[in-house]
Amino acid sequence: MSNSGKKLETLCIHAGQTTAPATGAVMPPIYTSTTFEHEAFGQAGEYAYSRGGNPTRAALERCIAELEGGVRGFAYASGMAATAAVLELLEAGSHVITQQGIYGGTLRLFNQIRRHSAGLDFTFVDFFDLQQVESLLRPETRLIWLETPTNPLLDVVDLAAIAELAHRHDVLVCVDNTFASPILQRPLERDCDIVMHSSTKYLGGHSDALGGINVVADPELGQRIAAITSGVGGVAGPFDAYLVLRGIKTLALRMERHETNAQAVAAWLEMHERVQLVRYPGLSSHPQHALARSQMDGFGGVVSFQLDGDLTAVGDVLEKLQVFTMAESLGGVESLVGHPATMSHSNILAEQRRELGINDNLIRLSLGIEHVDDLIGDLEQALAP
Ligand SMILES: Cc1ncc(COP(=O)(O)O)c(C=O)c1O
Repeated sequence: MSNSGKKLETLCIHAGQTTAPATGAVMPPIYTSTTFEHEAFGQAGEYAYSRGGNPTRAALERCIAELEGGVRGFAYASGMAATAAVLELLEAGSHVITQQGIYGGTLRLFNQIRRHSAGLDFTFVDFFDLQQVESLLRPETRLIWLETPTNPLLDVVDLAAIAELAHRHDVLVCVDNTFASPILQRPLERDCDIVMHSSTKYLGGHSDALGGINVVADPELGQRIAAITSGVGGVAGPFDAYLVLRGIKTLALRMERHETNAQAVAAWLEMHERVQLVRYPGLSSHPQHALARSQMDGFGGVVSFQLDGDLTAVGDVLEKLQVFTMAESLGGVESLVGHPATMSHSNILAEQRRELGINDNLIRLSLGIEHVDDLIGDLEQALAP
């Protein structure tokens, strides 16, 4: 069945998947085989060896490629493996422009690993001033890497404007679309070149499978990433690929609930006397609310806020929460609470964190799909003096 022209809700269920021809199985089987018989001497079939391609992984890759509006998808063992595969496109000495306010693990890969191991250079900017971004381009600039909304401050970047600027200078744009998911934002439609995901988050959706995704719009770029992916080998195993594919079936429904819960919690927090500041792209107080409204189909399920209090007060609130679980990660069906300064962004120097606005009193919530009354009730008791 061709899915072209179908709505996202339908693609979540059917894209990239057909009933198994041999058995009629409605769900794609988990193919554990690492190797596949050749059709004849010197003639491999569609699959030969699982690092290069595996039918379960391929079903996930076709599915996410359709959801993102791309031509080819790739599934990895983690989001970091997906990011690393994109960096492999760059020859030694290349320059990358990116944001400070990206996921802490991506910053670590850039600054502490690839600077040394691959001779890449990185310049950090916030992407709000396009003239400034343009002034940072160098002859060896090959990639703009950006996240929108960012983790944990939920800044929103204008995708079409950055893509237009980058393409005038023959620079690729890769967007980490983890926080939005293709249900809320499709960067390839705004002319970006590569979409990356930590599928550990919303795509998988159940906090039970680590994974990463890249999707491209250009077949030639797809060939290059295919060669890197098979050559370097950080691919998703068939069980994890299956779990992400299964998770995607309910992605559209889950995103709807994540979002209504986030919107209600953000509005409630904004009125609370112990809360100094709330960051959520769906609030009219968010500095890029209008941009988020125009380039996204919703605002997502993550809300960050600053507590009026010190580190001890923050710890006290986090300890008191009962429905929210204090844990790393986001995007699962269960609500999580995190403290970026001591968790996701603890590998960044304190001074740098403060410059970024990741203060010690910043708390990040990943709203799950529980009933909103229980979530607000939990916050109410935890914030009570
Ligand atoms: C926005 C973002 N990108 C990338 C990653 C890395 O993904 P993974 O943990 O699946 O390697 C994360 C993980 O938290 C993330 O939040």
